[in-house]
Order: sequence, then structure tokens, then C-alpha cells
Amino acid sequence: MLSMTQFAKEESDDFAAIGQNPPDDSHLATSASAPPREGYATGNDAQRPVIRASNVDFFYGNAQALFDVSMDVPRNRVVALIGPSGCGKSTFLRCLNRMTDLIDGVRVNGSIQLDGEEINRPDLDVIELRRRVGMIFQRYNPFPKSIFENVVYGLRISGVRDRRALEEACERSLRGAALWDEVKDRLKESAFELSGGQQQRLCIARATAVNPEVVLMDEPCSALDPRSTARIEKLIGELRNKYTIVIVTHNMQQASRVSDFTGFLYEGRLVEFGVTQTLFTKPIEKETEDYITGRFG
Ligand SMILES: Nc1ncnc2c1ncn2[C@@H]1O[C@H](COP(=O)(O)OP(=O)(O)OP(=O)(O)O)[C@@H](O)[C@H]1O
Ligand SMILES: [Mg+2]
Repeated sequence: MLSMTQFAKEESDDFAAIGQNPPDDSHLATSASAPPREGYATGNDAQRPVIRASNVDFFYGNAQALFDVSMDVPRNRVVALIGPSGCGKSTFLRCLNRMTDLIDGVRVNGSIQLDGEEINRPDLDVIELRRRVGMIFQRYNPFPKSIFENVVYGLRISGVRDRRALEEACERSLRGAALWDEVKDRLKESAFELSGGQQQRLCIARATAVNPEVVLMDEPCSALDPRSTARIEKLIGELRNKYTIVIVTHNMQQASRVSDFTGFLYEGRLVEFGVTQTLFTKPIEKETEDYITGRFG
């Protein structure tokens, strides 16, 4: 088990390895006891968060699962959500592309903006929202189709017919998901013939083929062995150059390895949100400290 100081060191080494300093994103940190955030300077698109959730409450029937959650997800960053089972991580993630619409009797208050546009507007095109905000699940879920058809599925339903365009997109997405070399000679085979780790990378290729802005991942590695997990973690580091990623994980080492920011949720509240290295080494809130040091959860 790594100590928190080692976490921090490894994180800096990772940045050093790619010739970068860790991003100075400390201005984005929030905590339950901090004053309300100030917001971004208007007119500065590069700084505008890709997702801005403000005061989100969420109810399953009468049971409230999220309380006043506010979070800015910066563009081209990886945000990890951690917290004990049942604290609302998956619920919050599903709110970000309205997967929660699929459940009866739910209600959401507050605002969630994608690129400044409210996603809970009743007239919003939810299919288009889910293209822009893709999702990867714990249990990889390829369709009962060939590898090729899985990858191009989203493009086909959006009306792309041209074979050449589909083939190019398939190769590009499989390369982007670090799977091309393993499957290029078996594109017509069923997706179910792939290993679990390959199926999860196929799902990542399928989600990225439609050119999303954000990729949500709900415990993407928890059904995978350590080797496949390491491949997905490496892949997340690469995907971050093109997409914004929000990942739910139970594994704090994983959060510290893959993310720039971490949010700690507890009993439906976002207790603390900050630069990953800082949150794991110098948490502001006592509840965060108790959780990351294993005192509960
Ligand atoms: N479909 C549902 N209907 C009713 N209640 C639900 C539903 N899904 C989740 N809940 C409840 O909402 C709360 C938050 O659940 P959620 O799945 O978001 O937690 P989580 O942090 O993802 O937990 P885990 O780490 O176990 O996946 C829990 O109390 C859960 O029982
Ligand atoms: Mg969950």
C-alpha cells in the first residue's frame, strides 16, 4: 500500500515523465466549509468548465440521493469521484448525461450545464447529449455484433453510410483505445470473443467513435484483472488529451494515479473537491481525511 506522500511523489513523476509540471488548478478547489466559488471570468472559453453542476439535488421517489452538489469539471482533465458505497457517485455520474431519465419516479433540482447549456431543459435532444457525454460501465457491455459493428454503431445510427468513412472511424477509434493491433485482423468476429479487458477497450472505442466531449466511466476496471486495469489506466492518460473524463472509482490508488482532480462524496454531499495530489495529502475536511486514511468506508 502506498503512503500518501508516495502518491504525491508518483503523481509529480508522472508529469515529469511527459515533460510537464502538474497543472496549477488550485483555484478550482472547493470544500464544504469553503466560501462559495467565485465562478470563471466571463468571456474566457478556454477556462470555462466543460461541465458545471450547480446545487444539484437528486431524488429517487422520496429518497434524496444528492444534496446541493456543485462541481466544475475542467476541460481535458480527469476528475475522479470517490466515496463509500451508496454515497451517490453513480447517481451524480448518470445525471451528467441524463441516464437517470431511464429510471421512473426520479427528480432533479439545480442546474447542470454542458458548455454553458442547461442539460435538464425538457426540449434538449437527449440522444445528442449522450453522444457528447459518453459512458463506460463497470460491466463492459459490447453489443452482440462484430467488433467493427460495435465501434461504428453510433455513427450508423447518426446516419453515416459511407463504408470508407466507417472504416476510417473504426480504425481511428480502435487505435485511440489501444486495441487496433490486437483486433485489426478479426474485425468481423463477434465482440464476445474478446477478453474482458479487450471488451472494455472496445466499449471505449465505441464511446469515442462519435467524438464526444466528455467520457464518463463508472468503475471501469472493477471487473478486470490487474494487467487489464493497468492498460485502461494508461489509456485514460492518453484519452485525456482529447476528452474530459469523469471516473468513479473505489480504488484510491487508482484515483491518485489517473486523475487531476478528485471529488469526495459522502452521504450524497460533495464534501471536498480539489487537485488530486492536494486532496490526498492535505485534505481540508476531516471527513475526507478519515476516508482516505481508511478510518471509515
Ligand atoms: N434506481 C434506484 N432506485 C432507488 N434508489 C437508488 C437507485 N439507484 C441508487 N439508489 C440509491 O441512491 C443512493 C446512491 O446510490 P449510488 O448508486 O449513486 O451510490 P454509489 O456511490 O455509486 O455506490 P457504489 O459505490 O456502491 O456503486 C443509494 O442510497 C442507493 O440505494
Ligand atoms: Mg456506483
